[in-house]
Amino acid sequence: MNQRIGILTGGGDAPGLNAVIRGVAKTLLLKGVEIFGIEDGFEGLIHNHVRPINFDDVSGIIARGGTILGTSNHGDPTRDLPQAIGNYRKWKFDGLVVIGGDGTLKIAHEFSKKGARIVAVPKTIDNDVAATHVTFGFDSAVTVAGSAIESLHSTADAHRRIMVVEVMGRTAGWIALYAGVAGGADVILIPELSMDLDEVAEYIRERHKTRRFTLVVLAEGVGSALRVGPELQKKTGYEARVTVLGHLQRAGHPTPTDRILSTRFGCGAAELVLRGA
Ligand code: F6P
Repeated sequence: MNQRIGILTGGGDAPGLNAVIRGVAKTLLLKGVEIFGIEDGFEGLIHNHVRPINFDDVSGIIARGGTILGTSNHGDPTRDLPQAIGNYRKWKFDGLVVIGGDGTLKIAHEFSKKGARIVAVPKTIDNDVAATHVTFGFDSAVTVAGSAIESLHSTADAHRRIMVVEVMGRTAGWIALYAGVAGGADVILIPELSMDLDEVAEYIRERHKTRRFTLVVLAEGVGSALRVGPELQKKTGYEARVTVLGHLQRAGHPTPTDRILSTRFGCGAAELVLRGA
């Protein structure tokens, strides 16, 4: 009997989501599986916003940012679990492919305890999903942040300034570390290690005896660059400027590396569905 599989994307978007959806859908459609797109994460299942997905829907989206299904990362869908389970049954789903990070995967776990069949694809630009070597979206975020950090060198040098660049990562410093190293940063501050601003200021004062500038990269989990920048200026006597990269790190096209990784995740998830996992 043909399977009926729902697919949803939850939490903050990450470049590569569409490539995952495409990988899942094309692999399964070719095997005669019926696919249904659930809009805006688990909220779509609660409110019954579900639509069939065919080849045309997933054609030409491998390089597109965002997610064709929409996503959401607010509210507490576990409260409305009975309603979502009701709709899961109403649509006669044989399983769900859930693409999400920590929060979404926790909800998916609750869902599976109620008898739903779940295949999950780990997602986050932060690269901090447990038991996952690398998540898609991370390479795209590092590419944007690394190139921004690299570009800031010239203006920092021109003005003899300290540049403080804040990147995403509330609990993980992967983006800061990779983008910082790739962009040639002088100081990289990550939430995994304690930070001593006096020590950083001392390093900068020492450095400016022979150099004209310092590039500081800060993961958002360490603190706000809007606070750290002025503090470093006060402590060192050198002018500081702040750049917060924010959602630019999640915006736009996935890198070719992320398109490949996402496609592999998508096809891998589809194979698990076909195997009955
Ligand atoms: O988890 C991904 C992420 O981009 C984090 O790096 C960031 O702290 C957070 O999401 C931002 O969330 P929102 O888009 O809800 O502001």
